[in-house]
Amino acid sequence: MIEVANRLHTVEEYYFSRKLREVNQMIASGKPVINLGIGSPDMQPPQKVVEAISGSLQDANAHKYQSYQGMPELREAMASFYREHFSVSLNPTSEILPLMGSKEGIMHISMAYLNEGDEVLIPNPGYPTYQSVTRLVGAEPVFYELDAANNWLPNIDELEKLDLSKVKLMWVNYPHMPTGAQPSEIAFRGLVDFGKRHNILIVNDNPYSFVLNDNPMSILNVEGAEDVCLELNSLSKTFNMAGWRVGMVLGNSTLISNILKVKSNMDSGMFYGIQKGAIEALKCSKMWYVTLNSVYKRRRDLIWKLADALNCTYDSEATGMFVWAKLPSHLKSEEFIDTILKNNNIFITPGTIFGSQGEGYIRFSLCATAEDIEECIARVK
Ligand SMILES: Cc1ncc(COP(=O)(O)O)c(C=O)c1O
Repeated sequence: MIEVANRLHTVEEYYFSRKLREVNQMIASGKPVINLGIGSPDMQPPQKVVEAISGSLQDANAHKYQSYQGMPELREAMASFYREHFSVSLNPTSEILPLMGSKEGIMHISMAYLNEGDEVLIPNPGYPTYQSVTRLVGAEPVFYELDAANNWLPNIDELEKLDLSKVKLMWVNYPHMPTGAQPSEIAFRGLVDFGKRHNILIVNDNPYSFVLNDNPMSILNVEGAEDVCLELNSLSKTFNMAGWRVGMVLGNSTLISNILKVKSNMDSGMFYGIQKGAIEALKCSKMWYVTLNSVYKRRRDLIWKLADALNCTYDSEATGMFVWAKLPSHLKSEEFIDTILKNNNIFITPGTIFGSQGEGYIRFSLCATAEDIEECIARVK
């Protein structure tokens, strides 16, 4: 019997990995399950991205190891994207590091900055990976609660009451998943000041800025943010490229060079063709975003109808690729989604997988066709 490492006892198999096995078994046994759970974009990337990737295969460099830092043209495209959409100026040589998705960035940043016993502020509700990666590197999660009453923004006064002496890093994620809450300039300013006061690295994970959101914002836009902040971004949702794995981490050159030290020891550069495709994606005109969002808007209108049919309430000002809905007060999230899965063959994510503050909520994904969502409404009615 070969013993696993102790760190493996700190995490469980990812919820979706487990639950989708159950859903797939139902499908295999003939049940017509519609998946409104997972946020995997189902639409095509921009056509010129697909052409750039497929056209790259005959290039002499296509199959070689690639630079750990990505092609200079890719970093330049990322810098232009940040200048154009967030009014943030970054040095493409030293302040941007392309990643194979932003999820790997969570591990790289944690490996670069956390020691065993360090504490990490993690949003509740929030993306489960912040917690599991924190545990995998031997650090301690300290959850900070977000709630609807405060528009799911961190309460800095409450944070100040904590013993922060061991806190090294804080994860924030705006626009927020799963709730779709928007950041405000004041909230970002407050976070930067908080990071400076306590010497805490603030990392904003920002993959949802371009989905049903008229006002993309970066924490790096706050004056002085470069001293204590990093930002992660991703092409997964913005350009329907989740499977291609393209993300980036942005911040001051010292912070970035430490992450490169980890990354260059773990992988050998992103596939050439994907970098070519990513460059094209980042250059997309406004039309791309308008078209993408017109589809999501139609789907969201239907999801709202579905939520109404289930007697749920939601914030129609929320942004992003999900609808976060509150159940009637006596209902529990996991029992509710299991009942809907069993009775209606619809899979919805229970809010509790994002933390205890998700109890009483469910999350609908907009990554399903309008026809499928209409079918869900019919089944529920
Ligand atoms: C909040 C959040 N951060 C990061 C990610 C990971 O995205 P990527 O595909 O860039 O790794 C996700 C994906 O679901 C997410 O919801």
